[in-house]
Amino acid sequence: MNNVPDKQPSNQAKNQLFNSLTKSVAGLAILVVLLLGLVLLVVFQPEISKRFNATTSETSPKNPEPLTDFTTELVDGKDVETGLLAGEGLELVKANCTACHSSALILQNRFTREGWHERIVWMQETQGLWELGGNESIILDYLAANYAPEAPKGRRVPLTGIEWYELKD
Ligand code: HEC
Repeated sequence: MNNVPDKQPSNQAKNQLFNSLTKSVAGLAILVVLLLGLVLLVVFQPEISKRFNATTSETSPKNPEPLTDFTTELVDGKDVETGLLAGEGLELVKANCTACHSSALILQNRFTREGWHERIVWMQETQGLWELGGNESIILDYLAANYAPEAPKGRRVPLTGIEWYELKD
């Protein structure tokens, strides 16, 4: 008989203990899951950012460098291998501009000298194109002369930098 009133509070205490235990276990589990997520995110961060920047790595080789072993054979004023027009700087363009992609990207485009320069800067900033140094102006001259907008059909590119002389009577 004496046992009954005693039992009641101790049961309650047990329940309370059980309740707070399950609560803290649940809290701990949530914390562990969150921490695990954070750790995974840090560990796989390079993988994740690679996926978001997929365009950069698809076309560019890992360690691109200028081509060295090629021969240039001209037929009908064009390089047989690449279809690029003959002209001063052709070899430099072949070496530097067909290492990552085919010459088609040049052949199908027409830009002014500034336009070509912008593309080169873009490739240097985002695609791993190396510094062209002193070759840059030769390459730009070649591109501007041969692949300029509204390239005249059947006519040579107009001469620039001519020193005109006065006619005397
Ligand atoms: C390091 C690698 C690399 C080299 C070297 C390189 N390119 Fe590119 N170029 C790229 C990539 C990557 C693209 C984007 C291709 C694509 O969109 O599929 C590109 C695109 C282009 C385009 C198209 C741009 C547009 O706006 O559509 C042109 C034109 C071009 N390159 C010209 C050149 C010229 C000229 C050179 C030499 C000075 C050169 N490339 C050298 C990587 C390179």
